[in-house]
Amino acid sequence: MIEQTLVLIKPDGVERALVGEVLTRLERVGLKIVGMKMVLVDKNFARRHYAAHVEKGFYKGLEKFITSGPIVAIVLEGLHAVEQVRKIVGGTEPRTALPGTIRGDYAHHSYEYTDKKGIAIKNLVHASGSKKEAEEEITLWFSEKEIHSYQTVHEKHTF
Ligand code: CMP
Repeated sequence: MIEQTLVLIKPDGVERALVGEVLTRLERVGLKIVGMKMVLVDKNFARRHYAAHVEKGFYKGLEKFITSGPIVAIVLEGLHAVEQVRKIVGGTEPRTALPGTIRGDYAHHSYEYTDKKGIAIKNLVHASGSKKEAEEEITLWFSEKEIHSYQTVHEKHTF
């Protein structure tokens, strides 16, 4: 039941100074940060991360967006972490993402607008979609040495 999952605070989230806000929302449910770094990715790396989207019409815009500035990459650990993080992050399109979610509260882009403009939808964060995807994405973004093992104060004193 204890899983690890990957979260990326994309260039729009970093540029809007929302790193602390995103981390707070993820940490306060009890998820543990076990890896974190700031990275500027190139086109080659973007194609590896978004391999499932390379053939899609919006990929060019997505590549431009994801390589446009630094990203904060985080590995979170906890019970059902993949599902929990997706719940907190909200739906892909900020326009329809529910209030109370990161994308619903801090972004407002719509597919209608980005399709017209030929740009990627700016939705602040990426979160792994399944356990398998999380394992593959963590391996892509982090070396074993960059993932840490420690006990939070809650683990030390509560369980
Ligand atoms: P993410 O969760 O990182 O997964 C793939 C990304 O592609 C997604 O967030 C959006 O940033 C982008 N994306 C997905 N669908 C579309 C779309 N229809 N138009 C533009 N960008 C999209």
